[in-house]
Amino acid sequence: MPARARTKSVLALAVAAMVGCLVIATARSEAPSTTPAPAPSGIAGVGDVPFDHTIHAGKYGIPCLDCHAFADKSPVAGIPSGRKCMGCHKFVDKEKPAVQTLAAHVEAGEPLRWQRVFSVPDFVYFSHRMHVRANVACAECHGDVGAMKTVVQGHPFTMGRCMGCHKERNATHDCLGCHK
Ligand code: HEC
Ligand code: HEC
Ligand code: HEC
Ligand code: HEC
Ligand code: HEC
Repeated sequence: MPARARTKSVLALAVAAMVGCLVIATARSEAPSTTPAPAPSGIAGVGDVPFDHTIHAGKYGIPCLDCHAFADKSPVAGIPSGRKCMGCHKFVDKEKPAVQTLAAHVEAGEPLRWQRVFSVPDFVYFSHRMHVRANVACAECHGDVGAMKTVVQGHPFTMGRCMGCHKERNATHDCLGCHK
């Protein structure tokens, strides 16, 4: 590609990315009910309430979509609301201090906060819906979360990683597919 044409297409991509961000921001504000703000550092959980996937998704086999209920419907997967937790914890382990703290937050109408682990830069368009609907398993991108006491990101979502799978599965290579 001649240098001028390249500069132009990079510019077009940058503008397109900015427009994309607006679209994403709008989509995000409609989806889950929880605030994606950090929990106190070092705690796996929601705010000061610990949360352990090895108990919920591992030992008890609660389906991922039960809690991350937007993953097959929207760009974001979402984190369950305190009310959702209380659907079980009104009864389960209700004598435990952590569960009582949880109940107090929900009663006070305080949103649950968590420490974000996975993310892509704002100029990248990513949506859960089309991946989940195409039967790409959560574990292909997130690892075996049911075995993680603290969710960690095994390897980052570089463009190469997205492209690698897209090559295998015949999904889009169009720059504007991911940089709208
Ligand atoms: C579908 C039911 C269900 C939902 C929804 C649920 N839990 Fe649990 N939770 C359980 C079960 C079952 C246990 C384990 C009970 C046991 O073995 O004593 C548990 C255990 C716990 C414990 C105690 C863990 C420990 O170390 O002993 C905490 C804290 C907890 N859950 C927090 C949460 C939070 C926070 C949410 C919402 C983000 C949530 N749970 C949603 C079923 C649920
Ligand atoms: C009972 C509810 C519940 C179930 C079931 C559950 N999760 Fe979660 N998940 C949570 C909560 C609460 C958080 C935020 C706190 C944390 O990171 O532990 C979370 C966090 C995550 C994160 C990290 C989010 C981020 O910020 O990057 C991923 C990835 C994830 N879950 C995937 C899964 C997968 C995959 C499954 C099924 C194997 C699953 N979860 C089952 C409640 C649940
Ligand atoms: C194709 C890869 C891929 C698949 C499949 C996938 N995720 Fe994700 N997930 C991501 C990426 C990338 C992010 C970060 C998105 C961002 O920054 O906007 C993410 C973020 C999340 C988060 C953080 C909160 C949010 O909504 O952004 C949760 C929770 C989550 N995923 C759960 C799941 C669950 C549960 C499944 C299966 C039902 C799943 N994911 C399937 C790639 C994937
Ligand atoms: C493990 C495999 C896998 C990974 C990793 C993956 N994807 Fe995908 N992606 C797919 C599949 C399969 C489809 C096709 C879905 C369909 O056509 O219904 C798809 C479709 C898409 C689409 C929709 C394209 C269109 O035609 O509209 C976008 C956008 C996208 N992926 C972005 C990303 C981004 C960004 C990443 C990295 C953060 C990523 N994907 C990582 C498998 C993957
Ligand atoms: C399947 C999704 C996907 C497609 C298709 C895609 N990208 Fe990306 N791109 C990403 C992701 C994710 C990142 C951010 C992670 C990273 O920097 O590796 C990124 C980052 C970038 C960056 C910033 C790199 C940096 O180092 O900061 C540029 C520039 C870029 N892409 C250009 C392009 C061009 C040009 C195309 C078409 C040839 C393209 N992308 C196609 C997913 C994609």
